[in-house]
Amino acid sequence: MRNIFCDAETMAVFGGAWSNEECLARLEKQLQSYRDNGFGRWAVILKATGKVIGLCGLQYFDTDTETVPEIGYFFNHMFWHKGYATEAAVACKHYAFDILGFEEVYSIMLGVNYASMNVAIRNGMLVRRHYMKREDDKDVIRYIFSTKKSDESGRETL
Ligand SMILES: CC(C)(COP(=O)(O)OP(=O)(O)OC[C@H]1O[C@@H](n2cnc3c(N)ncnc32)[C@H](O)[C@@H]1OP(=O)(O)O)[C@@H](O)C(=O)NCCC(=O)NCCS
Repeated sequence: MRNIFCDAETMAVFGGAWSNEECLARLEKQLQSYRDNGFGRWAVILKATGKVIGLCGLQYFDTDTETVPEIGYFFNHMFWHKGYATEAAVACKHYAFDILGFEEVYSIMLGVNYASMNVAIRNGMLVRRHYMKREDDKDVIRYIFSTKKSDESGRETL
């Protein structure tokens, strides 16, 4: 995970690299999600090299009004613009609908995170609403995208 969360270029949209402690806290959050729910973000491994290039997977996310199953994706910047994030996000969506039985899945991102929005769109999602949140003494805007199992009719572009 350090090659993702502790990499300044990868984390630019969040204001820069996280510290080792922040990275370890995130890892512990993932492990807790596996223990509590049986799912979490998964490592994405490039078959050609066997190396971890990103994370993608389901985790419960607290919005301003509710807790929802969210598909998140984080890839080291050297592996952007190759379609890997969308490929992984689409697979997670099918797992959420077909194996876990969710009726709706979400992707939620900062209002400046256009790359993340585009993955959500490629994953067949529509923007539903936004909300403001106070974080680190700043007001940030988050957009909520989702797709419903009942709406799955080839909207994804993969
Ligand atoms: C969000 C993030 C994962 C998006 O990564 P990405 O590489 O832009 O997304 P994809 O993997 O879907 O790649 C799509 C791009 O690959 C291109 N591509 C190349 N080959 C492709 C293929 N075989 N199939 C699909 N797309 C392909 C697409 O044309 C598209 O190009 P573009 O970015 O120039 O428009 C990445 O920016 C990231 O890790 N950011 C930091 C962490 C983050 O913000 N995570 C989201 C938190 S809410």
